[in-house]
Amino acid sequence: MRTEQPKMIYLKDYQAPEYLIDETHLTFELFEDHSLVHAQLVMRRNPERGPGLPPLVLDGQQLELLSVTLADRELSAGDYQLTENTLTLQPASESFTVDTSVRIHPETNTALEGLYKSGTMFCTQCEAEGFRKITYYLDRPDVMSKFTTTVVAEQHSYPVLLSNGNPIASGPGEDGRHWATWEDPFMKPAYLFALVAGDLWCVEDSFTTMTKRNVALRIYVEPENIDKCQHAMNSLKKSMRWDEEVYGREYDLDIFMIVAVNDFNMGAMENKGLNIFNSSAVLARAETATDAAHQRVEAIVAHEYFHNWSGNRVTCRDWFQLSLKEGFTVFRDAGFSSDMNSATVKRIQDVAYLRTHQFAEDAGPMAHAVRPDSFIEISNFYTLTVYEKGSEVVGMIHTLLGAGGFRKGSDLYFERHDGQAVTCDDFVKAMEDANGVDLTQFKRWYSQAGTPRLAVSESYDAAAKTYSLTFRQSCPETPDKVEKLPFVIPVELGLLDSKGNEIALRLAGEASAQGTSRVISVTEAEQTFTFVDIAEQPLPSLLRGFSAPVKLSFPYNRDQLMFLMQHDSDGFNRWDAGQQLSVQVLQELIAQQQKGESLVLDPRLVSALKTVLSDESLDQAMVAEMLSLPSEAYLTEISEVADVEAIHNAREFARKQLADNLFEALWLRYQANRDLSKQTPYVAEAEHFARRALQNIALSYLMLSGKPEVLAAALEQFENSDNMTERLTALAVLVNSPFEEQKALALASFAEHFKDNPLVMDQWFSVQAGSTLPGGLARVKALMQHPAFNIKNPNKVRALVGAFAGQNLINFHAADGSGYRFLADLVIELNGFNPQIASRQLAPLTRWRKYDTARQALMKAELERILASGQLSSDVYEVVSKSLA
Ligand code: TRP
Ligand code: ZN
Repeated sequence: MRTEQPKMIYLKDYQAPEYLIDETHLTFELFEDHSLVHAQLVMRRNPERGPGLPPLVLDGQQLELLSVTLADRELSAGDYQLTENTLTLQPASESFTVDTSVRIHPETNTALEGLYKSGTMFCTQCEAEGFRKITYYLDRPDVMSKFTTTVVAEQHSYPVLLSNGNPIASGPGEDGRHWATWEDPFMKPAYLFALVAGDLWCVEDSFTTMTKRNVALRIYVEPENIDKCQHAMNSLKKSMRWDEEVYGREYDLDIFMIVAVNDFNMGAMENKGLNIFNSSAVLARAETATDAAHQRVEAIVAHEYFHNWSGNRVTCRDWFQLSLKEGFTVFRDAGFSSDMNSATVKRIQDVAYLRTHQFAEDAGPMAHAVRPDSFIEISNFYTLTVYEKGSEVVGMIHTLLGAGGFRKGSDLYFERHDGQAVTCDDFVKAMEDANGVDLTQFKRWYSQAGTPRLAVSESYDAAAKTYSLTFRQSCPETPDKVEKLPFVIPVELGLLDSKGNEIALRLAGEASAQGTSRVISVTEAEQTFTFVDIAEQPLPSLLRGFSAPVKLSFPYNRDQLMFLMQHDSDGFNRWDAGQQLSVQVLQELIAQQQKGESLVLDPRLVSALKTVLSDESLDQAMVAEMLSLPSEAYLTEISEVADVEAIHNAREFARKQLADNLFEALWLRYQANRDLSKQTPYVAEAEHFARRALQNIALSYLMLSGKPEVLAAALEQFENSDNMTERLTALAVLVNSPFEEQKALALASFAEHFKDNPLVMDQWFSVQAGSTLPGGLARVKALMQHPAFNIKNPNKVRALVGAFAGQNLINFHAADGSGYRFLADLVIELNGFNPQIASRQLAPLTRWRKYDTARQALMKAELERILASGQLSSDVYEVVSKSLA
């Protein structure tokens, strides 16, 4: 909790550290009612900062200082200064050691930052600035040190003692205690430190690297979860091989460990050699985890593993550079997931997510550049912009340089900066130097916030056989009020003739055509590209594969969109044409609703989806994606002023019309796929994900018909499925149906069956929190009283409150403001014990500018109430104060 006034920190104020820590020797003595941390820091003056011996200011928070020794002399109270966040000493020579002993309280640490207990297990989370809650230190990523760690704990309760690197010694101690010492040979910043002590079992495997070194792989879990580790282990081995093949990166220690913990603020953490994971990002087996959960585990295991190079071997100079490791690593894990599954489906899902959530962040009060230039609390900047938009920025470099050029750049980056803490500029410089290109203008993607708009218009000259596309880019104002300069926007495009064939693309001035799909770079505010030898008026396919994170507009009519849906050679754009068609149709319904007219669905949407549904040659996962209407959250994001009820009613009306009009086709595909599911044991692979995805979206439409045969099918699927993907969808359609009796029975039997599995109970909470039937808030409040709910557990809060406020828009935005009041009360409560979770749950209230004046007033009033509630953490303070500014 903050007592000092929160302070803004600026990138422009960056200075290299005054002192360095060559070696860090830690001893942890873990007890039930406190822990002791002894640190010996082998330090010296940073030669980069020149001569002189300024005071040494160590970071430290919530530490009880027991003793401090400088250069072998124990200091007394007058020899140092202690504040809430610092310990200041005066060194007398260029090289010296500092020894400190502190007492800390992991057993009461509810913020889940620093050393804390999850259940009976001790574990750590140090990124970004949690190490200072463990010991006094230079807690900044440009101070890299060689760590040796000894953990001492009671043997019976904590048989497993882990830290980073390799185990070098262990043995028994006094009073039933034991100890283990770990040594990490690689220099690392403190945010990558980790420690675990607990009664854990592990699944073991091994991996032979490209130079034939053997690496032991271990996944540690609580004993009851030992049967849920195989999917993560398979994912880890695939990731290790993929990083060798695609990036030439080999693992560097003799052992790689993952530990699953139940109480974790985020998904997972890439601590050197000892990744700590939210159990939701490790545990997966058919009976308890959905296909989406399996894919998430695979992606997060890969993400954290890839950090070993993009983050650990080469790390960030300061936290403004966070996207250096996160954007690049998300780009890497997305490439991996694309190669393991369907690349087009992965791209569709990522883009839908980016457009809905990152674009909303870019348009809100917390908007910031991929490399922010100021912050109050760095924990607030683990954002969609830093992660997902950061990945898009790396992806654009990949598009501009091609796969080969990009690999040359990444090789140079890793080689040049191995063992260093560097900046986003260093990353781009390596890309430039390896390819002999100038990315100066491109770098505006790192420094300018906001989502660029790209308006495209066309003109065809039949006599000259030329076709011109004019691009106009702009970028809306963001809270920093900085005027935006033009971005480099790579636009991959193609032109279709009237039969749907691709036209060879030759720009005016070029000697010959260069393929039928190519990337042009829009670099000016307004720019025209003219194609020659164009025999007939073409239809453009623009921004293929979503080649830049922009809002592109082109005046397509609905027939043209239907044409692209069928003929575009780019799978992503076929899907996107369908989304644009759906958006046009839904916006028409929204307008009808607002004018009090009766709703009429454009029959072209029905016929377009009928064509998709009857095309047996299409990837079934693509069919499922194309059948999915744009979400209410996306329709909100693209609205000037979001009309909550109209959006919900229009979308529900469209869903019901589609269900009625496509009933036969949906029913056929449902039955065919369900029959196959019954005959096939569960397999976590793309083709099976695809079959179940189509089966499940078909069931959710069919259920809208209210027909008894569909209810019977849903009940059959609920009761007989051997996997959570089918069972949970069946539960969800029942929960959203009017069949009260069947719904209650299904919910009760599910809870009874899975009451001892917290991750499955999270799904049970989420399904109910997401139900858009009236009375949502009352249901959520009642569920908070359920014995399986626990407000101290972040997964539970996300499952219930996050799902309600983030996805159940019609209930959360109830016109009486009850949803807002509920969320504000919760944020105030969470702020008292877990500021990071409090601040994240706050996000829906920060979007108040999107709504009508009545809702705006209600939302603002709740933000004001939070601000006035006193004792705000810097996390919550920053988000609330910026939202009200
Ligand atoms: N670096 C982690 C990642 O892989 C993010 C993370 C994990 C984190 N735990 C955290 C960030 C706690 C802030 C606070 O993306
Ligand atoms: Zn990461």
